[in-house]
Amino acid sequence: MPRRRRSFVCRECGAQHTAWTGRCPACQAWATVEEVDAGGTRTSVTGAMSGAAPLSSFDLDTTLPTPTDLQELDRVLGGGLTPGSVTLLGGEPGIGKSTLTLQMAMSVSQRGATTLLVAGEESPAQVAARAGRLGAVPDSLLVVDELTVDGIVSTLEATRPQVAIIDSIQTISVERLESAPGSVAQLKAVTERLVQAAKRLGSSLVLIGHLTKEGSLAGPKVIEHLVDTVLSFGGDRSSQLRYLRSLKHRYGPTSEVGLFEMATDGLQAVDDPSERFLADRQPGLPGSVVVASLEGRRPVLVELQALAIDVAPHRGSTTVQGIDGRRLAMVGAVLDRRVGLAVGRHDLFVSATGGAKLGEPGTDLAMAVAVASAIEDRPVGPEVVVCGEVGLGGEVRSVPQLEARLHEAYRLGFRTAVVPASAPEGPTGMTVSMVSTVADAVAAATGSHAT
Ligand code: TYD
Ligand code: MG
Repeated sequence: MPRRRRSFVCRECGAQHTAWTGRCPACQAWATVEEVDAGGTRTSVTGAMSGAAPLSSFDLDTTLPTPTDLQELDRVLGGGLTPGSVTLLGGEPGIGKSTLTLQMAMSVSQRGATTLLVAGEESPAQVAARAGRLGAVPDSLLVVDELTVDGIVSTLEATRPQVAIIDSIQTISVERLESAPGSVAQLKAVTERLVQAAKRLGSSLVLIGHLTKEGSLAGPKVIEHLVDTVLSFGGDRSSQLRYLRSLKHRYGPTSEVGLFEMATDGLQAVDDPSERFLADRQPGLPGSVVVASLEGRRPVLVELQALAIDVAPHRGSTTVQGIDGRRLAMVGAVLDRRVGLAVGRHDLFVSATGGAKLGEPGTDLAMAVAVASAIEDRPVGPEVVVCGEVGLGGEVRSVPQLEARLHEAYRLGFRTAVVPASAPEGPTGMTVSMVSTVADAVAAATGSHAT
């Protein structure tokens, strides 16, 4: 049977199309295209009359992500910002949310696209001053100091930006509500209105939300379910390193991590994280060990340092930085019971250097080796890299993406890898030392083979 030629028309501008599309390519209006029959009458199969349309007939180009051209942000977003989507960017005050989004707006408007910045926290003049310090400010970057959601929606309708940033969601209010801006009721009402506007206009909205250390009650957590994407921006304010993670993402992966460094001219992408984390390393110190870890899906090498001070039996304490204290407690117990090290009589200090934050199980074995090396005062070989998960039985377990980790280690000059027995072959020139117990790993890494 020959396929019937179908025709569609936009009820907004009258443009004719050969396929149904969520957004009219001619006038950019959303949900205005309807199917018509040969006589030009609306049919009931698709379009507005039934409200239903074949899933296969959508023009997918209108939902492709638009790159922001900030490499680390695009990595986390899975390519860029999806048109009509709403992203919540959360983080503690002062971490760099305004800077990141301003750089994003400048980058997107560099291509000529209109972007809009709703400045609720700073005056437009302050934003302009900051933008001026960050680079050239394109004319298509607009700013408005509007604190009511009605005003913002009108501005969005009038300017039709490709990307709009609300800085911050806690300063915006719906006038009919009596509660203060930032209250749960206000946050929800404001977000609902903005989500509707984004979908209708096809703009990508980025809402900035301040998180307090306690994850405050009226914090942006209450709107996470209303938005498409939730990003968290964090890091130690004492270090310049910033991590961008996605906690929820309707249009892409949630496993990627973006790494930035706060510099005097804004946030810069960290191009070679391993090199950065190993920059100040002094090989040969007892307690120092390099771990092949994962940041999202990227293998990253980080130095772990442990210091052990003998206090008295059962009087030891632990202090950690950049690692998970609970995993360290578990690893300590394994060293005590399965390797016979008197961990409990030491004050232990264990840290990941360079501001790195390690949470994945693949770092267990390196923690164990670092602590053992510190307690026994025996250094790990300078070209040794360690990777593996530790079980309570003292066994070394396999970890994901070991091959990629080994290649990253080789690239940075490591020639011996202490890894689980299930390891793939390493790069040519690398000695892969497969171990099945923590005791074997400690012996292999410190060159002290038990008799
Ligand atoms: P900001 O983006 O204002 O944080 P947030 O919006 O999350 O509250 O960042 C504020 C900090 O960043 C401030 O302490 C100054 C610092 N900063 C730089 O170090 N370099 C820069 O180029 C900029 C713009 C800010
Ligand atoms: Mg800010």
